[in-house]
Amino acid sequence: MSHLAVKGGTPVRQQSFPVWPVWGNEEIEYLTQVIKSGKWGSLHGEFTPLFEKKFAAYQDAKYGICINSGTTAIRIALTAADIDIGDEVLVPAYTFIATASAVIEAGGIPIFVDIDPQTYNIDVDKAEMAITPRTKAIMPVHFAGRPADMDALRNLADKYHLIIVEDAAQAWGAQWKGRAVGAIGAAGCFSFQSSKNMNAGEGGIITTNDDLVAKMARSHMNCGRSEDGLWYEHFYFGGNSRITEFQSAVLLAQFERYDELKKIRQQNLSYLNNELGKIEGIEVLKNDERITSHACHLFIFRYKKEFFANKSKASFIEAMRKEGIPTSPGYSIPLYKQPVFLKRAFGPRGRSIELPIDYNTVFCPETEKACYEEAVWFTQNMLLGNREDMDSIIESIKKLKSFAQEI
Ligand SMILES: Cc1ncc(COP(=O)(O)O)c(C=O)c1O
Repeated sequence: MSHLAVKGGTPVRQQSFPVWPVWGNEEIEYLTQVIKSGKWGSLHGEFTPLFEKKFAAYQDAKYGICINSGTTAIRIALTAADIDIGDEVLVPAYTFIATASAVIEAGGIPIFVDIDPQTYNIDVDKAEMAITPRTKAIMPVHFAGRPADMDALRNLADKYHLIIVEDAAQAWGAQWKGRAVGAIGAAGCFSFQSSKNMNAGEGGIITTNDDLVAKMARSHMNCGRSEDGLWYEHFYFGGNSRITEFQSAVLLAQFERYDELKKIRQQNLSYLNNELGKIEGIEVLKNDERITSHACHLFIFRYKKEFFANKSKASFIEAMRKEGIPTSPGYSIPLYKQPVFLKRAFGPRGRSIELPIDYNTVFCPETEKACYEEAVWFTQNMLLGNREDMDSIIESIKKLKSFAQEI
């Protein structure tokens, strides 16, 4: 008789995990207010400036500028922070494509740096080795909601006069040594796309403490206008990257509930870290004391197949899913191996453009290991579950370990 569900045994779990998004009367109330006000665009409404103010304060930033997506926020923040055509920007190789594609959109050249397998954030020592006279900026990603090592990054940036732009798309409320991320560097960029812990369907925000970055970002977001200029007077290059009042209304409601949900996620993440860390073959990420708040967008561990009868990550994930645990392999291809990068297909209709780099020559071993062999993800909605939900994850992994030959 088989034990594992993948071989016809009884699954550990039949019921689903908490669904996302979480919403309530507040979203309906605020959306109704927007509709009735007739002010549906962010330039005339009240929700966008209110949300910008509250969110910026939450991230310890002087300014918040709402943008229509996290991707566009990165593109605008880079330009606003003075990244110019042809400038090299160091980015981690293990991240969502927007981290690198927004650099291309801004006219820069993304240079991929490997990750630290202990944190899945950019490896700062390897970043230093990638610096050339053309390096202008570094863009750490606070991956999964875990702040990157901002002390090491600050030292590096100071030593080589680099601009730091934080990709904080997954890091709402994350803190490094008691200070919220997002304005530790010149600017930070957050996403409010559907899967995110703060969700408006789509949306983003730039946070900064720098007056000029804020002014430029607001102008690039709004067709190059200036706050004291005429409506049809355009001073800088920029399109329409504005958010709507509908999104800001939903965001305000999501924001008001955010800390309560963050606490639940944090408790569950720390429980999973403790319990799964005891299982040989499951390597949880490093607990850095300087991280005073983890945004818990994903729970990640490293799978070591040698402790699971040498069964592949793909087979492990399939077996977990059959046990009733929605388990994700995460990014399945290193960013530099994406067809668009290999072919430098950044021109119209996928035509190649000239760049002084051939992405075919890039190799980041830890990123490859994470993609192909080790990284296993659970999404943030699962972290909103109760203790039994977490125990079912743990039990499934232990079951797979006990009957690894069957995977
Ligand atoms: C690390 C990272 N950067 C950038 C983005 C882009 O954000 P958006 O989807 O809002 O454009 C995302 C989210 O999708 C992300 O996870």
